[in-house]
Amino acid sequence: MARNAEQNGGLYYPSEAVLADISVADFEALREAMRVDLAGTWAEIARAEFEWFEPWHTTLDESNAPFYKWFVGGKTNIVLNALDRHARSWRRNKAALIWEGENYECRSYTYHQLHREVSRFASVLKAMGVNKGDRVTIYMGRIPEIAIAMLACAKIGAVHSVVYGGFSVEALHGRIEDSESKIAITADGAWLRGNIVPLKNIMDEALLRAPTIQTVIVVKRTGQDVHMEPGRDLWYHDLMNLPIADAHIETEPMDAEDPLFLLYTSGTTGAPKAILHTHGGYMVGVATTLKWVFDIKDEDMWWCAADPGWITGHSYIIYGPLLLGATSLMYEGAPNHPFPDRWWDIAERHGVTILYTAPTAIRGLMRFGDAWPNRHDLSKLRLLGSVGEPINPEAWRWYHRVIGKERCPIMDTWWQTETGTFMISPVPSTPLKPGSATLPLPGVEIDVLDEDGNPVSPNEEGYLVIKRPWPAMLRTIYGDPERYVNNYWSRFPGVYMTGDSARRDEDGYVWVIGRVDDVIKVSGYRLGTAEIESALVSHRAVAEAAVIGVPDEVRGHAIKAYCILVAGVEPTQRLVEELRDHVAHEVGPIAKPATIEFVDTLPKTRSGKIMRRVLKARALGQDEGDLSTLEQ
Ligand code: WTA
Repeated sequence: MARNAEQNGGLYYPSEAVLADISVADFEALREAMRVDLAGTWAEIARAEFEWFEPWHTTLDESNAPFYKWFVGGKTNIVLNALDRHARSWRRNKAALIWEGENYECRSYTYHQLHREVSRFASVLKAMGVNKGDRVTIYMGRIPEIAIAMLACAKIGAVHSVVYGGFSVEALHGRIEDSESKIAITADGAWLRGNIVPLKNIMDEALLRAPTIQTVIVVKRTGQDVHMEPGRDLWYHDLMNLPIADAHIETEPMDAEDPLFLLYTSGTTGAPKAILHTHGGYMVGVATTLKWVFDIKDEDMWWCAADPGWITGHSYIIYGPLLLGATSLMYEGAPNHPFPDRWWDIAERHGVTILYTAPTAIRGLMRFGDAWPNRHDLSKLRLLGSVGEPINPEAWRWYHRVIGKERCPIMDTWWQTETGTFMISPVPSTPLKPGSATLPLPGVEIDVLDEDGNPVSPNEEGYLVIKRPWPAMLRTIYGDPERYVNNYWSRFPGVYMTGDSARRDEDGYVWVIGRVDDVIKVSGYRLGTAEIESALVSHRAVAEAAVIGVPDEVRGHAIKAYCILVAGVEPTQRLVEELRDHVAHEVGPIAKPATIEFVDTLPKTRSGKIMRRVLKARALGQDEGDLSTLEQ
């Protein structure tokens, strides 16, 4: 049993059983090795744990910073390490992916089977003219084919750009257009709470605005009638039944620095940007940090309950676990469907040993009370994880007590789409403080800076920055290297700006506070104010709009919108509903404002920038701060 935290100054220590189980060698030695020789230590790991077609000549090239390069000259492919090598090892008959549909349908793929399906679909893509470097947009729900599609792209060197299935027409259109994809892979629909999300219809509508797509491959999942455009749309199952679906295809040797995927995310102002990750560094970083933090073993049942459409799903449902030869569980539906114990039922039936989820989900399930989890045998769980936003201590304690039975340490992992992998996180041996992501991982050097770039004192809040490059870091913003430099490396020259504020306590533990830019985290999903505002003003009734995030008990933040209406338009409740639906249609249901207020003016700087900070202070009844730049 863990010692009583209250007797340890609020620290939760790992039990003897947890400590005895840790397979990663001396962490402090690793930390020190990274500090002394960052590149050399990563090189050792990359050599020992991964297969390469050709070795690299330079581990870390800093000559063109901040365009860092890792494992330069090396050739590999993430699929060589995530599938090929396991399919020819003793793991070939081990489950790679276990999937449960919302309707309780189950499917599983051994490494051999997944390797075979990925190879066959890779051959199909190749036969359809997809070449190395081509971008492929993938827009699907949580079904095995999303993993197959991503891995098939990677295998032939195509660059996947997954658009979260909860996004809608304009969000999808913008991402297709920016990535210049010629081919899209989607499904007829996705199941969510017993309803069909009409993915193919949304794709059709987006394609009216983005005619660059020549081919759409459609997976049949929900089975309703969908329009199939002759000459453009093809069924996945038809293609996979043709001789072109050949299982014998070589994995494309890729330069370590070749792009693996684009993933769009919201940042400071403007349209979402495509974060670019690579085959080499991303592979090494993702697998290594997953091993450090969750110490996955062959007998584990790993369940990352995120969506593959976000970085957490990319890194920790698909690539990370497969690289480690682990068994990864994917669940299609909602956590509370048909009952609030669906997740605990899944955890019990599949014998989940590690559960990785977000504070919003924990708070949502906590509301239903302890009886739902308590009727299930959760004794196989040994570790828990959290990601996406700061976890409030109350939710942390519930998760620890009711789900983990005070037995399972909670790995609160801080990271970002841009970082590719965990950056600040405990490992199983770390004493925990509820609400803190604890310490940077080995090789990660952080700081907390004030406005002038000076380190702040312990317990003072400041900008969270990262001071040294790491293998899985984003390489650029696709098509906009200038924006990459401006967004991340300009505020404080030479250091990476995370966009978060944080403080460090006297023990060096990091407490992330939240975003300092125009990003709003709603239910752990990352949304940009600009995308929602532009959806609002695309409605004929709205002249100007501003949105902010306001605290919400379950979702972390909820969206509050302020709209100035076009002259002569009546501010009715019906219009509020219409605007909310309009945002859901253009961006996605997650972006729907919880409240919309009609106003006559918006606070702006003299140069015309909306001061969301002022709106936020007003909404929360707080001091509006320095108003010297406010236009009077
Ligand atoms: C927030 C998700 C506190 C943070 C992997 C970051 C967190 C943003 C944590 C990135 C955590 C993520 N504690 N805040 N453990 N994890 N965040 O790109 O604000 O969707 O900058 O990546 O989520 O969100 P993104």
